[in-house]
Amino acid sequence: MTHEEKLVITTALIYHAKQAFTNRSMILNIGIIGLRGMVGSVLQERMHQENDLENCQAHYFSCSQAGQVTTIAGQSHTLGDAYDCHSLAKMHIIIATQGSQYTKDTHPKLRANHWQGYWLDAASYLRTAADSTIILDPINQAAIIQAINDGKKDFIGSNCTVSLMLMAIAGLVENHLVKSIQATTYQAISGAGAKAITELHQQIKITGQQAETQNGLDLANTIHDIIKHQPEKYPQQHIHAPLAVSLIPWIDQEKPNGQSKEEWKAMIETNKILQRERNPIPVDSTCVRTPALRCHSQSLFIELTKNIPLETIETYLSQAHPWLKIIPNTKEASMAKLNPIQCSNQLDILVGRLRKANLGENYIQLFTIGDQLLWGAAEPIRRVLVKIIQHLQKNAHPKKHIANTTAA
Ligand code: HSE
Repeated sequence: MTHEEKLVITTALIYHAKQAFTNRSMILNIGIIGLRGMVGSVLQERMHQENDLENCQAHYFSCSQAGQVTTIAGQSHTLGDAYDCHSLAKMHIIIATQGSQYTKDTHPKLRANHWQGYWLDAASYLRTAADSTIILDPINQAAIIQAINDGKKDFIGSNCTVSLMLMAIAGLVENHLVKSIQATTYQAISGAGAKAITELHQQIKITGQQAETQNGLDLANTIHDIIKHQPEKYPQQHIHAPLAVSLIPWIDQEKPNGQSKEEWKAMIETNKILQRERNPIPVDSTCVRTPALRCHSQSLFIELTKNIPLETIETYLSQAHPWLKIIPNTKEASMAKLNPIQCSNQLDILVGRLRKANLGENYIQLFTIGDQLLWGAAEPIRRVLVKIIQHLQKNAHPKKHIANTTAA
């Protein structure tokens, strides 16, 4: 490309980037990338249910299927090229659920070309950036509103286990009762992606085939023998372990301190959301992959700042937000209601097994489950989207807004 051609493209990008934000009467353009992924499809479903994109123009972009025509929420759309920064720069808001590599490839180019739009993202790449706000509005609504009013433009969803943990203990956090947290997670295979779900079912099928001719300990020994001595018969290309009959006490990359990256995120992101980076709450965790299909579970061991009765703790927990559902700490209720299937595809955050620990009156234990695709990914993003749309529309029609405010 010649210098002149580069100059023309850059000038056009800057023009579109500025045009999108100076023409106040135009309909908001929302660019959506990663629609076909799990988080993207759940997000699309929730935005449709809540009518979030009413009065907006949705534009769908794809990394691999640009140009194809697809039907979304009953309407036909031609997929744009997710790497075409010229088209992306026309968006007021971009929602990316495509993963960190896409964000790394695209976001810096748009910002370098003076794009002033809002970038909402489910991937981790921008989470720890100084200019990013991690979004979980039932917990940090004030910080999100402040960031929007301050002109911040990057709003990033937290790691799913962090969001679900904070949703579970919001009532303790807001009452300044949390001194430290020890979490053990039991994470569903869907957190590892669609191919991993398919592979888990292939593993289950092999176990099922053996169960047709054997049972009891013989069946267990045969399956273990196949896995140990004929691993090629037991598909493990995506999961890298025999998860159907086991578990994996490691998720994501290794960090130098002995933690997995999933565990490392727990303390960093929790304290960024709570704006406690300078006085962090210690959060230790062990993250475990299980054969559950959907919803992440966590066993939390919490050191409180003071001794308070369990009844008060339960009241604080259940009053924190409308989605918190306490499951009584009985065998019957725990077995019937406290499991990932009960929580799947629902916004409920289940909290059960709540009890004081033997270590002392200032320590409690609880078990919590939430849908990692909803509160753990899509829901915080669509909720901040609504806030940003309202902010942009309010600023686009200042007189109308003042009139409405006075009338109210
Ligand atoms: N980091 C998560 C996991 C993905 O591996 O389960 C979000 O669900």
